Amino acid sequence: MSRKTSLVLLALSLVTLGIGIDQKTGISIPLKPRAALTKDDGTFDHERAAWQTYGTQNKHRQNLINLERNVGLKAFNKGAEIKKYIPPPSSKLTKRQGVPLTDQDDAKWTGPITIGSNAQKFTIDFDTGSADLWVPNARDCDGCYGHKTYDSSTSKTSKSVNGEFIIYYGDESTVSGPIFTDTVSVAGVNAMNQTFSAVTQVSSSFNRDPGDGILGLAYESISSLQASPYFQTAFAQKAVPRNEFAFKLAAQGSELFLGGTNSKLFTGTIEYHPVKSSTGFWQIGGASIQQGGTTILSEFDTVIDSGTTIMYGPPDQVRKFYSSIAGSELYDESMGFYSFPCKSIPEVAFSWGGQAWGITTQNFNLGETYRGSGQCVGALSGKDLGLGSNVWLLGDSFMKNVYTVFSFANNTVGYAMLK
Ligand SMILES: *[C@@H]1O[C@H](CO)[C@@H](O)[C@H](O)[C@H]1NC(C)=O
Ligand SMILES: *[C@@H]1O[C@H](CO)[C@@H](O)[C@H](O)[C@H]1NC(C)=O
Repeated sequence: MSRKTSLVLLALSLVTLGIGIDQKTGISIPLKPRAALTKDDGTFDHERAAWQTYGTQNKHRQNLINLERNVGLKAFNKGAEIKKYIPPPSSKLTKRQGVPLTDQDDAKWTGPITIGSNAQKFTIDFDTGSADLWVPNARDCDGCYGHKTYDSSTSKTSKSVNGEFIIYYGDESTVSGPIFTDTVSVAGVNAMNQTFSAVTQVSSSFNRDPGDGILGLAYESISSLQASPYFQTAFAQKAVPRNEFAFKLAAQGSELFLGGTNSKLFTGTIEYHPVKSSTGFWQIGGASIQQGGTTILSEFDTVIDSGTTIMYGPPDQVRKFYSSIAGSELYDESMGFYSFPCKSIPEVAFSWGGQAWGITTQNFNLGETYRGSGQCVGALSGKDLGLGSNVWLLGDSFMKNVYTVFSFANNTVGYAMLK
């Protein structure tokens, strides 16, 4: 059987069986892929990329606000700062590109969860780059049209908690709502009395989001709710055998594995690197980036973020990186996108002192700037997200190339070769 066939079979069997539960080895949750930033005609979806960049900036801005409140500025990376104002993508861009706000075909790396004694169902974005759980509120939610909502009155295990959950966006909009505790279940893994918010207010960009809400998988120190995040609660209540989880993100057979690693999905050993857990992120140091086998930049930190589509680095470092690629040029200064000749897509790899983990040309290329231009946009943007002057953010464009393990047990991130 070819490798492709077996991947398809695995994906099918996950769908047929629903969810695999094995209390001894861990639990697998099949995920749906995130929408590509490449349109059907092979061109770069500039508008969607701009909105996603905006969302990423705002998410990490709020993480820093939480981190400062929960731990203090001492936990900040060098050069990190909370941005005062983050402008939404310009309406000029929106008009020119003319893409509708909602998109039925859109999908993130989403998977199913239930909340409450009556198992209210949601489709959730599993996000290693944040640490709170929120879903829309049934009672009242501005802008939640088309999404599933949580009704606290119908769940026997629901309890209301004092206070309010608020994510402030850099354009002064907010995501906010009351706080509850209830049973949260992911593939049968229950976290009882889990703190979360059922939001009554969402940001204007929420409508384009295929998921109903977000389940954060980072450390509690960046939690807005200042509460144990879902996975930590589940592990403390012995609902999973090991204090780690792992992702495979791919076009088919994507999976989040809770409480261990799924040896069917990777080969060889897992290369582990220590996390700087004081920052609250899955942040590991000593990174370098290669192009065509040559190291271009080294000794930077990386935050591994399943909730972000592409990769971002400090603008000056990313400029240096692209200057190593013949024919590359700045494509969109405000969003930090660069292009390169489509006929020679760069061979990019990251290393943390062990193996070089390559990014396939398909994963690095976001598509042609416009039809026939011959220039393609790279999945690495030079954008200051406020995370620090030497910190890069690696999203799905990186994670799609490796099996990624997140270990709270040892405070490590591990990589292995996908099967
Ligand atoms: C959840 O809360 C209920 C009611 O306060 C309590 O009886 C129960 O022990 C709690 N369960 C856990 C696992 O904390
Ligand atoms: C943590 O490290 C110990 C000792 O090196 C190892 O035996 C164990 O498998 C690791 N656990 C995880 C979850 O990585």
